[in-house]
Amino acid sequence: MKKNEKLLGWVKRVEAMCQPDRVRWCDGSQGEYDEMIRLMLQSGTARKLAESKRPNSYLIWSDPADVARVEDRTFICSEREEDAGPNNNWRAPGSMRETLTGCFTGSMKGRTMYVIPFSMGPVGSRIAQIGVQITDSPYVVANMRIMTRMGQKVLDVLGNSVFVPCLHSVGAPLQKGQRDVPWPCNGENKYIVHFPETREIWSYGSGYGGNALLGKKCFALRIASVMARDEGWLAEHMLILKMTNPEGKARFICGAFPSACGKTNLAMLNPTIDGWKVECIGDDIAWMKFGEDGRLYAINPEAGFFGVAPGTSMRSNPNAMASFQENSLFTNCALTPDGDVWWEEMTDELPPRLTDWRGNDWTPKSGSPASHPNARFTAPASQCPVIAPEWEDPRGVPISAILFGGRRATVVPLVNEARDWQHGTFLGSIMGSEKTAAAAGEVGELRLDPMAMLPFCGYNMADYWAHWLSFTDRASNLPLIYHVNWFRKDADGKFMWPGFGDNMRVIEWITKRCKGEVGVTETAIGGLPHPADINVNGLDTDLATLEALLDVDREAWSEEMEQIRKYLEGYGDRLPTQMIVELDKVVAALAD
Ligand code: GTP
Ligand code: SPV
Ligand code: MN
Repeated sequence: MKKNEKLLGWVKRVEAMCQPDRVRWCDGSQGEYDEMIRLMLQSGTARKLAESKRPNSYLIWSDPADVARVEDRTFICSEREEDAGPNNNWRAPGSMRETLTGCFTGSMKGRTMYVIPFSMGPVGSRIAQIGVQITDSPYVVANMRIMTRMGQKVLDVLGNSVFVPCLHSVGAPLQKGQRDVPWPCNGENKYIVHFPETREIWSYGSGYGGNALLGKKCFALRIASVMARDEGWLAEHMLILKMTNPEGKARFICGAFPSACGKTNLAMLNPTIDGWKVECIGDDIAWMKFGEDGRLYAINPEAGFFGVAPGTSMRSNPNAMASFQENSLFTNCALTPDGDVWWEEMTDELPPRLTDWRGNDWTPKSGSPASHPNARFTAPASQCPVIAPEWEDPRGVPISAILFGGRRATVVPLVNEARDWQHGTFLGSIMGSEKTAAAAGEVGELRLDPMAMLPFCGYNMADYWAHWLSFTDRASNLPLIYHVNWFRKDADGKFMWPGFGDNMRVIEWITKRCKGEVGVTETAIGGLPHPADINVNGLDTDLATLEALLDVDREAWSEEMEQIRKYLEGYGDRLPTQMIVELDKVVAALAD
């Protein structure tokens, strides 16, 4: 049934180059998943968790040198360097192809080459896209089965059409008789490479998350952002949630927050105000296309959650906890003596004994975290108790509002409404996070992460802003845009806003704005709520704190605008003039 000539030809060529011992086409079945698990148990990659604690679930420990995305080894190889932009590492495609061909030649010796057809988005949806990943890692096959729709059903829909070829190797060929290690990877050489014009991905040397599960950041963000630019849609690092108000009216919103800044938490939030219900559509990526009514419709291209484990608890995110109660994979978490996983802040009390993510004995006195700070769970989205019934609707869901938010201890108010789409695009472009004292570099230094897409935009960010700005000409009914900040701190370094489920109070205010029920105070940076319009019933937050959270510090904003001007000017001639127009408006209003 495999008749796609392009696909067959590509698989043949890759096989000849990588020289695996055998090739296996993945059908996406449970039996095949079980076999991947068996292989990982045999090789020492995975260990089974106690069936009584977490049925059908496994813990995997990676090589300690392969634990996160490698942004300095991530490349956008467009024909012209300026098309990749200052936001990306660039290499000429020809020379990169040569380098990669060198790496991949013989890279799968002694291993099985798996061919994984997968769909990002519900199979057959007009917003969905098909990719085929080749990999030599059973860990990748197992994770892809949770994170995407994969296997024969995708080939059936693909027919003879185009797909995105995604080539992956851990870069650790085995010589005859050589014993494998539990987590093969390549210590010296890692390449996460995208060819935007030909829409190809080549990933070498890493087995971890975003480097290796190529449907996620490589395809659904870097390559898809290029497709979206060319075809008039959006591929964004955004959660999607559904909320239903006490009258039973549902609305959908998206939110862009940088990595580890709260998307998973917001997407599954437990509202602390009565009568509201929040359900989850997606926690990391949104693809949005216009419907016939001129509104933006979003789908979650993924089928699972690859979420940050540390910090996740029954208190912070019970819905995530329920999602990975069974049939889940855990990477770089600690192991309890009774065969369950543990990570920092999972429980109020520290367990007396653990095996840490490196396989060493651990006690509270060990002085190092038991799980890696970027330890992750892989769980089927269908297991989330608050997954919205529409989450697999091939038409997507109509988006009423978009949130942009970073981690800002100072300056950025709790919520700020954009005057219009152009101003909202500007607000998205100036979002960032501050460095903490724990990391090298100047404390408080502003690091901009426009639209939370800095590591994920597959082309020049200036063109990306131009693409966003072009939407005013494409539709009459665009979502409202808000800049939010849950992370403001007081002089003692304590969070001023309770966050988590209480973020519903900000979203409630936003829905009141969508309906025109409350007004705003027009400020230099945008529309801020009247403090009395934010529902703080049952919170400790006093009026003074709320006023501070909604204050615009003119001096701080003026300074920040100067940093932002420098940053935007770094994009040179490609920067859309509207961005400077918006900046100048803020600067002028601040001086007023
Ligand atoms: P990626 O999967 O890396 O893209 O990240 P994400 O945006 O989904 O991050 P996630 O929701 O897992 O964020 C995790 C971190 O943000 C944890 O340390 C949380 O405790 C913290 N966090 C999330 N929401 C809030 C909030 O409302 N207030 C505060 N103070 N912290 C929050
Ligand atoms: C992120 O880093 O934003 C993630 C995790 O969502 S990874 O898939 O590894 O990129
Ligand atoms: Mn992410």
